[in-house]
Amino acid sequence: MSSDVSLRAGFPAVRLRRLRRTPALRRLVAETRLSVDDLVAPLFVADGIDAARPVPSLPGVAQHTVDSLVIEVRRLSGLGVPGVILFGLPKPEDKDASGSHALRHDGITQRALAAVRDAVGDGMVVMADTCLDEFTDHGHCGIIDPTTGDVDNDATVALYAGLAVAQATAGAEVVAPSGMMDGQVGAIRTALDASGFADTAILAYAAKYASALYGPFRDAAEVTIADGGDRKGYQQDARNRREAVAEVVLDVAEGADMVMVKPALTYLDVIADVRAACAVPVAAYHVSGEYAMVKAAEERGWIDGPAVALEQLTAVKRAGADIILTYFAGDVAEVLGA
Ligand code: PBG
Repeated sequence: MSSDVSLRAGFPAVRLRRLRRTPALRRLVAETRLSVDDLVAPLFVADGIDAARPVPSLPGVAQHTVDSLVIEVRRLSGLGVPGVILFGLPKPEDKDASGSHALRHDGITQRALAAVRDAVGDGMVVMADTCLDEFTDHGHCGIIDPTTGDVDNDATVALYAGLAVAQATAGAEVVAPSGMMDGQVGAIRTALDASGFADTAILAYAAKYASALYGPFRDAAEVTIADGGDRKGYQQDARNRREAVAEVVLDVAEGADMVMVKPALTYLDVIADVRAACAVPVAAYHVSGEYAMVKAAEERGWIDGPAVALEQLTAVKRAGADIILTYFAGDVAEVLGA
């Protein structure tokens, strides 16, 4: 059509580059803003160690003592990071078939939660990973049914309910069930309400995939799945996308206050779908393998690590995540807060 400017001689069709010319212009028109406010730092605390122990496959991450954990939480708080999620690691001799140490009121996660809550009060959101794999001697996320050899869903859910109450009692404001058992969110909500913890929130690991990207986490948490096993019988299959929406819808119906997609970068499509399918805050977990790949390539001088980290986390936000759990939380807070 003759009214179409693109057809007028000498006029380029569009000039999208105009708005990219200066940092100020780019800042003004940016569609996505990654902020320190979006970040949650995953932290490990180990029983029976007397000094923090670096995790070789997660450079910059350590297994903390309760004391060093509190120092790290204070540092993150000072950088403006709003939340932490704690993973307690028992002494190897305290692991058993049902992960019983996890539920003890004087267990490592509960002691760490109490110490951290004591240090930061309501100044930071203190979350607990609600799972048993760190505490079971077979490394699965629940109890094994002796007849089938699989994780027994309902018996495990009953333990998660007790675990969530123990964590809330110790000071967790948010419990985050990560075992992918059916019905876990509803059972935890019921147990929390019945125990006087109606205000304790649930962040459901709703769409958690059986990923090969959890390797460094299992180093950090000293989890080995017995007999070379895997979690494909309870975590999601990487080939499935719609199924994630089904998981999220169920978890929200059961009372999830926030839902999570995990891992992040290999599931950006899932994050976008989940964002569209529900109204609660959506978290994404940029997991250990995602972090380790950036660190390893950076160490070899092959990529600009901090720039790649920012690009990856921005992509996770752009896909629709409101909250990002990342081992880069402290590093990114230093860059963004500067
Ligand atoms: C289970 C749990 C895992 C992670 C978080 N919670 C491991 C698993 O499912 O095997 C992995 C997180 C990461 O890789 O950073 N308690």
